[in-house]
Amino acid sequence: MDDQLLTSPIFAKGFIVPEGLDGPPPAYLDAPYDVWDDLLRAASEVALQVADKSPTAEQWRKRLRDMPVLPVLSLLRNPGPLLCARRVLAFLQHFYVHSLPDDEVKPCMIPASIAVPLLLISHALDLPPVVTFADTEFYNFSVSPARPLDSNAKLHMLSNFSGTPDEAHFYITGLVVELEGIEALQLMRNVIDVVRQRDGASNRHAVVTFLLNELGACIQRMAAVVDTIRGGCDPNVYYDQVRLWFNGCPGTGQWRFWVRDVRDGYAEMEEMAGASAAQSSTVQALDAFLGITDETHETSHSKSGNFLERMRAYMPRSHREFIARLAREGSALREWISGNDVADEQLVRKAYNDALDALRRFRTVHIRIATMYIVNPRRRTSSPGPPDVCGSMGATDTGKPPAVSSLGTGGTTAIPFLKSIRNRTAGAAL
Ligand code: HEM
Repeated sequence: MDDQLLTSPIFAKGFIVPEGLDGPPPAYLDAPYDVWDDLLRAASEVALQVADKSPTAEQWRKRLRDMPVLPVLSLLRNPGPLLCARRVLAFLQHFYVHSLPDDEVKPCMIPASIAVPLLLISHALDLPPVVTFADTEFYNFSVSPARPLDSNAKLHMLSNFSGTPDEAHFYITGLVVELEGIEALQLMRNVIDVVRQRDGASNRHAVVTFLLNELGACIQRMAAVVDTIRGGCDPNVYYDQVRLWFNGCPGTGQWRFWVRDVRDGYAEMEEMAGASAAQSSTVQALDAFLGITDETHETSHSKSGNFLERMRAYMPRSHREFIARLAREGSALREWISGNDVADEQLVRKAYNDALDALRRFRTVHIRIATMYIVNPRRRTSSPGPPDVCGSMGATDTGKPPAVSSLGTGGTTAIPFLKSIRNRTAGAAL
């Protein structure tokens, strides 16, 4: 019995509230770190572009290079400011790397002013030094009223690469999915509780059936939320102005963090995925709880292994530990359900399969969105647009390299990849 799982605050507060806090991290940093905030605001004011050769862009980059290297010890003791600093530095890093003109991109030397604090903070948080879903979502909003933090809360996004309301809407959609996910997590906890009651629970099957039906309804609402992205994020704006900022480090040595005190003066990064909702803890928690990660997590030909599994390294540590624990319970639940084959108990199996089907439909809605936002705009442009620099973190099933402009921001082959996960979700029915 895993009591550490059952007592996890994630079941009550969801993934959206960082460990040790009651709400989102603070929106701004106090002195001396406010210089980072100021520089981030300046990036928006000068409207930095991807591969920006303008003199104002170069002035902004020079300002970043000339900033002093600030010590971060006081931040490391304070979870709220620490996470705020992580977001600000990660956004500054991506503004810097992706605004560099193409001919300066490879390899990219990240100045000490942000390299040193970002590496130290990322090390403390056990996160890679690259923009993640958590940076663009969990550490990137304020809310009014402050409580309760539920799907009616009014969310305000803080940082934004393109300066467009479309990008803010894109982030808010992801956050509302996470808010819906809080109810899903509470239902999961109740199911685990009930299934564990070995004695005297004559109505156990009826209760689990009810809870799984509720979970299915909750997943349906999450799918409906994903669809609302169309209400405020234009596919062409997303394709041309937003997604390129998310790209990660395309290959070993392509990003070098200038830190001075190591040999040669820099730390060489390995390939790192860009920010992607594949790093959403809620959706991975659903796979884990339903006990289907072996089915849905693809076995790609990539030498670096399974993509969704690797995405966990980009999640906050407490999330990935929680999901690993939940997956163990999920396997036990799936086994318990498949062992129920007398007439009464088949209702529980049906409820489980219906929840699985809701997840399949969630993935179908998501594929439609991904097609609308990646495939269609790509067809519209005669050229593939500004260069993609993300690595191919999820190789094609054929092992052939994909066309770069059709890659997801996490670096997968996008639609073929998503369809294979969706189909395997369907195939996991009992
Ligand atoms: C413009 C909107 C969106 C586009 C274009 C898009 C595209 C993609 C792509 C291409 C992938 C494959 C991984 C990668 O290479 O990044 C992916 C994965 C994923 N996305 Fe999205 N996405 C969008 C919005 C969302 C939203 C709002 C959610 C809600 C949480 C979401 C959840 C996921 C999940 C969970 C995965 C992992 C695959 C799976 O579990 O089925 N996406 N997305």
